[in-house]
Amino acid sequence: MQFIVKQTADAAADYVSRLIGEQLGANPRSVIGLPTGGTPVPVYARLVERFRAGGTSWKSATTFNLDEYIGLGPEHPASYAAYMRQHLFDHVDCPPDQRHIPNGLAPDIEEEASRYEATIVSAGGLDLLFLGLGRNAHIGFNEPGSGFDTRTRRVSLTASTLQANAPYFQPGQTQPSEAITMGIGTILEARKIVVLATGQSKAEAVRRMIEGAPDIEVPGSALQQAREVLVVLDADAASGLSGQRIAS
Ligand code: F6R
Repeated sequence: MQFIVKQTADAAADYVSRLIGEQLGANPRSVIGLPTGGTPVPVYARLVERFRAGGTSWKSATTFNLDEYIGLGPEHPASYAAYMRQHLFDHVDCPPDQRHIPNGLAPDIEEEASRYEATIVSAGGLDLLFLGLGRNAHIGFNEPGSGFDTRTRRVSLTASTLQANAPYFQPGQTQPSEAITMGIGTILEARKIVVLATGQSKAEAVRRMIEGAPDIEVPGSALQQAREVLVVLDADAASGLSGQRIAS
């Protein structure tokens, strides 16, 4: 697992947007896995800027989001489908039938999970998977205790994750306590993984992911077993690491 430390969250996001742009430039038909949450927002903003400047097209790309809340349809403003439209898809040229997000309203979530796995396989697998990192080191919505061989499935969110994501729900909107997420086994099959973590609140999770022994209580530590992983950090998120150096 390699990591790079940028001085600021903005510089780290810019770096990740360049990596995704380079991936799409090298292979316009890339299959890309995408996260939601606060950390990727500036990455998507830059990717939209790049698209508008004529740089990065998503016309031939296929995308797979990591997760969706169970019980929220794509029109629900707090759904990850709505998030993706707001931050990326409404502003770039990725055709709707090439964008995949688990269906949180599927009547049979197990069947939806198998369908999602099969769709990733039939697309040829993930060329590049962009991940965020939870404060408890979750990846996707694989909470502590998730096996490293888990596949896409129904999961319950921990109290700390519910609390971290509560601000995305307006008063009166019910926050689901379950989600459908790619599994850790699914994630580990990606050919390349880029993790972005910024801010002091991620420092301990980053330290345990990179420097700790692989441990199912630290889902991010599973990435030590992935083929090619680059962790992109700002100085705050890297502050718990021994011997880090800021890259220009
Ligand atoms: C989101 C996801 C989560 C987030 C993580 C960090 O699709 O899978 O693993 O990446 O919860 O969220 P933020 O960026 O809001 O701190």
